Amino acid sequence: MYVKVLYDNRAKRGFVPGHGFACLLDGAVLFDTGEASQSLLDNMKKMMVSPGEIKAVVLSHEHWDHTGGLWEVIKRCPGIKVYACPSFSETFKKCVVESGGELVLAGGPMDIAPGIMTTGEIGAVYKDQYIAEQALIVKGDKGFSVITGCAHPGLLPMLKRIKETLGVPEFYMVFGGFHLTGMGMEEITGVISDMKSIGVYKVGPMHCTGDKAIRMFGGQYHGNFVPVKAGHIIHL
Ligand SMILES: [Fe+2]
Ligand SMILES: [Fe+2]
Repeated sequence: MYVKVLYDNRAKRGFVPGHGFACLLDGAVLFDTGEASQSLLDNMKKMMVSPGEIKAVVLSHEHWDHTGGLWEVIKRCPGIKVYACPSFSETFKKCVVESGGELVLAGGPMDIAPGIMTTGEIGAVYKDQYIAEQALIVKGDKGFSVITGCAHPGLLPMLKRIKETLGVPEFYMVFGGFHLTGMGMEEITGVISDMKSIGVYKVGPMHCTGDKAIRMFGGQYHGNFVPVKAGHIIHL
């Protein structure tokens, strides 16, 4: 199992950075689409990804920095399956269908492709409003890993729920947006030590995790901290 990181706030030299997140699993399943479609398409080209090869898109949540590139992807892959949460807005769901995507609503855990599963909708309150989010669970050669878009329901509650659902003792790697911006050092240290006790072996904090939290993960996870950026390929 390999993951090409196509969109992140940080990028390897030669790739376009941008606010948002997107990655492609095994050349077939796109998880999120970043904010700007042109940046997504440019990074795809640099990573030798032809949009026509994408078989499915999974959207973590409805925020613009995760759905912005969707419409250009659907244009290039008419009829493509788009996995959304049932509580995404009716307007958004209508747009997917009218643009030519096949809308699939993931109310609970669901297989997407061999070794790739979605958690299905996990609810949260964000800025006083209900928000629905799903994360990807990957079963690779090295064990189970989790990829998060923004983790608005909270990274730890999401991981605990996944552990219970799967009945797994540990995770090989967790990466994506951890949404720890605005947290104090003590709180972030608590999250990091809880991740260790949950059994997360490697971490790749990205996107909305925040610079301070990313530095702290680097300091506390040592050699098992992976500085993931757009342009990287991760083997799971
Ligand atoms: Fe985000
Ligand atoms: Fe978000």
